[in-house]
Amino acid sequence: MKFGRSKVCVFDHPNEISDFVIRIWDRISQKAVRGKGRFFVGLSGGRTPVDLYHRLSDMKETLGWEKTHVFLVDERFVPFDHPDSNYRMLKETLFDHVPIPRENIHPIPTEGSTLEGSATAYEKDLEKSFGLSEKGLPQFDLLILGIGEDGHTASLFPGSPALKDRMNLVAPVPLNEAKHSRITLTLPVINHARHILFLVTGKDKAPVLQKIIDGKDGCLPASMVHCKRGSLIFALDREASILLSGS
Ligand code: 6PG
Repeated sequence: MKFGRSKVCVFDHPNEISDFVIRIWDRISQKAVRGKGRFFVGLSGGRTPVDLYHRLSDMKETLGWEKTHVFLVDERFVPFDHPDSNYRMLKETLFDHVPIPRENIHPIPTEGSTLEGSATAYEKDLEKSFGLSEKGLPQFDLLILGIGEDGHTASLFPGSPALKDRMNLVAPVPLNEAKHSRITLTLPVINHARHILFLVTGKDKAPVLQKIIDGKDGCLPASMVHCKRGSLIFALDREASILLSGS
């Protein structure tokens, strides 16, 4: 299904979704490496992409890991070994299983720092890694994003100040203990990406996806994601797509 510049792809089996995403990853990474010698990808945390990361970890030989740089689109403000750490999840499901050089992995530094300090340090890593000039925006080749039932993406929550941030590349998101404060890429960085892929599964996400894809609520953070330059794809399972007008 096409709508505007975006595409909605619906799959019956989780493996089909992962295979589809891996084909896109492979195509985009080869093009990026041919063009500039490196592939910059931003990955999300949460539960939904875990299957994909396991499948990617089987692609040891084929996906040019030595030229791949992996960043996190957001992180919980917890130590790296905390069960809710996105870095820990990615390390256990992917980084420890593929030949990616350690210096090509860019975790959000949550240890020995304040929330604001972590955001500033990560911004510096982006500026250095992308060789940014003053006010420049990093251009990811591919971002893999999730969507929460409230319409948040990365750690850009409805009504949060970080959602309005147009000055910084990375924003601190103070939250209560239970939810863990967060550090997140800001909307200008997300919307500057070459290709964006939303990976969303499960019936719980159907109502918010209808609001986002059928354009019923443009104020939701995920509705504000517009890939100005390349492709914006929604990779969904049947359950998540059940309320979409075209389904
Ligand atoms: C995080 C994510 C967040 C996630 C959504 C969906 O750190 O939690 O980056 O944006 O993608 O919350 O999470 P689920 O996949 O667990 O539903």
